[in-house]
Amino acid sequence: MLDFLFYCFLGILFTYIILLVLILMGDCDLYLQFASKFGKKPSALKGKVVWITGASSGIGECLAYELAKAGCKLCLSARREQELNRVKKQCLLHGNIKEEDILVLPLDALKFETHSSATQDVLKYFSKIDILVNNAGRSQRALFEETSLDIDREVIELNVLGVLSLTKQVLPHMLERKEGHIAVMSSIAGKLSAPSSASYTGSKHAIQGWFSTLGVEMSDRNIKVTLLCPGPVFSNLLETAFTGKAGEELKGKMESSEKRMSTPRCAELCALALANGLDEAWIALNPVLLFTYMFQYFPNLSRVGSKRMGLKMLKKIREGKV
Ligand SMILES: NC(=O)c1ccc[n+]([C@@H]2O[C@H](COP(=O)([O-])OP(=O)(O)OC[C@H]3O[C@@H](n4cnc5c(N)ncnc54)[C@H](OP(=O)(O)O)[C@@H]3O)[C@@H](O)[C@H]2O)c1
Repeated sequence: MLDFLFYCFLGILFTYIILLVLILMGDCDLYLQFASKFGKKPSALKGKVVWITGASSGIGECLAYELAKAGCKLCLSARREQELNRVKKQCLLHGNIKEEDILVLPLDALKFETHSSATQDVLKYFSKIDILVNNAGRSQRALFEETSLDIDREVIELNVLGVLSLTKQVLPHMLERKEGHIAVMSSIAGKLSAPSSASYTGSKHAIQGWFSTLGVEMSDRNIKVTLLCPGPVFSNLLETAFTGKAGEELKGKMESSEKRMSTPRCAELCALALANGLDEAWIALNPVLLFTYMFQYFPNLSRVGSKRMGLKMLKKIREGKV
């Protein structure tokens, strides 16, 4: 009996060691690692109509390229039409689709009153929306004490209410068709506490709450919900990030030496998470990925550990400087 228990213990220990090694060597969570090796490829989405917001730069732009390669029909939205047309050209150049398979639809996520007619425009053009990727968003950098309530409000309006507004326009159509897929670009900041970004962290935690609940409510109605949670990724995010003061943009630059994931790799992992209909995907380099696991499974220990590390060190990890 003791021998049996000993071998069970060894088996469990061995399994945990393997999982730890996979986490340390990986750039995404274990489910996504498994899906990327043994699951569906993005080409499984061929022919699907995908509406991407925030498609004029960064992750949204690269996701458009990834899905164009997979043969998806795309609706590209953001405020800057010229940039959307540039992205469209690249999609046609490197993708597996025709001119008529891409609709450029300028949209301001903050103009909630336009979301209904924009949804009708997409439906008129493609007659359906299979996947909505709510990706548009802005980050924020300032200590809690330096952040005005106006900024908290603006961040919530864009990163949360804008996403809810568009989703509430698209969801009835998916419910009517009895199929659909809603994805939201959350963040690892939606899983942890990102220092110097309380408003942003709060907005992404709110997204996690709203959309994980939607996922549960939709589980027997054939509507999938995917929360995409990237860690630090190269993009224009710091350029346009809110600070603590209303009307100000951070104008920050990401240095190539920083430990951030490349935008194409992040987009590739997002496309895999979509193709496999995952509920949630963590997409991050280490040590951020390991931190996310620690906070998920050992929250108290992680909180004590992170307080010991101190704000300076946490900020360095957050900005990819460790
Ligand atoms: N980069 C990271 O490290 C990281 C990590 C985790 C999560 N994320 C999330 O990923 C998403 C995309 O960010 P990114 O890193 O790719 O940054 P980005 O390059 O700055 O892209 C942001 C996109 O959002 C659009 N946008 C901003 N305000 C908008 C508005 N009012 N209406 C419509 N579109 C708007 C921008 O287009 P226009 O300016 O043309 O409108 C742009 O296409 C965000 O939700 C962000 O929170 C990023």
